[in-house]
Amino acid sequence: MAAPILVTGGTGTLGRFVVPRLQDAGQAVRVLSRGRHEDGDGVEFVTGDLATGEGAAAAVTGVETVVHLAGTAKGDEAKMRHLARAAARAGTRHIVFISVVGADRVPIASGIDRAMFGYLGEKAAAERVLASSGVPWTTLRATQFHDLVLLMAQQMAKMPVMPVPAGWRMQPIDAGEVADRLVELALGTPAGRVPDMGGPRVYEMTQLMRGYLTAAGKRRPLLPMPTPGKAAKAYRAGANLAPERAVGRRTWEDFLAARLGSTTAPKLVRDAA
Ligand SMILES: NC(=O)c1ccc[n+]([C@@H]2O[C@H](COP(=O)([O-])OP(=O)(O)OC[C@H]3O[C@@H](n4cnc5c(N)ncnc54)[C@H](OP(=O)(O)O)[C@@H]3O)[C@@H](O)[C@H]2O)c1
Repeated sequence: MAAPILVTGGTGTLGRFVVPRLQDAGQAVRVLSRGRHEDGDGVEFVTGDLATGEGAAAAVTGVETVVHLAGTAKGDEAKMRHLARAAARAGTRHIVFISVVGADRVPIASGIDRAMFGYLGEKAAAERVLASSGVPWTTLRATQFHDLVLLMAQQMAKMPVMPVPAGWRMQPIDAGEVADRLVELALGTPAGRVPDMGGPRVYEMTQLMRGYLTAAGKRRPLLPMPTPGKAAKAYRAGANLAPERAVGRRTWEDFLAARLGSTTAPKLVRDAA
């Protein structure tokens, strides 16, 4: 059997789309996870933690290509450092990395910036670590996945009034479409930084939240909230958007209809401000 492709983050939202697509393309897949999983459905699991580097060497052994999707709110630079070091030692031929649109356009200048947007600075740092690792690489930046926006909406709708960051816009994209592109990149040769992927439309946050409320059959007043700091200012200026790269096809409305199965508009959705 050919060398497996290692997928870090293969158990996550994006990874669960990437793994079967790689298999459909005839690839053997190994997944690195912090949890213990039984091998199954043609997937081999390796237990490890990229925050400490534990298990990284075993995960990359015998692998030519790594698709690095493991990511959390904190510590992505360290995760990349551990992975890239192990991959360089093992002679890995290609690391494909998923990053975020605007990673280097949102300044992290204060504690409040770091608290709200520190993960973007970490992503930019991880990109740099990869580029200087000596392992041939490809980095794709994507805008926010529909799943993340849905999670935000569900959290905010737990309150009687939905707080919405004033002036923010988003360009949500389907994680399955990002997975298609990542598989294409993983099966290709290292390409460096490739063009960003953005969702089909740019929405005001209020539009996204209203869309959610409509699809979920809920009623909540929306309360625009000011967001302090330089990073939030860059966000309001659209640093997180890629309107010139609106290559995604599935809209927020289509995603909501498929996920929540309802398009019935509630009678009253009004803004508090
Ligand atoms: N969500 C978005 O809107 C968005 C947009 C652009 C780019 N991205 C990037 O895309 C990637 C995947 O996002 P997602 O939404 O699929 O994330 P997710 O659902 O939260 O999944 C995170 C994955 O990372 C793995 N992981 C976390 N910490 C780890 C560690 N210390 N060692 C090894 N594995 C670890 C988890 O595996 P286990 O729990 O099994 O260990 C899990 O599979 C992330 O890098 C994210 O920054 C996300």
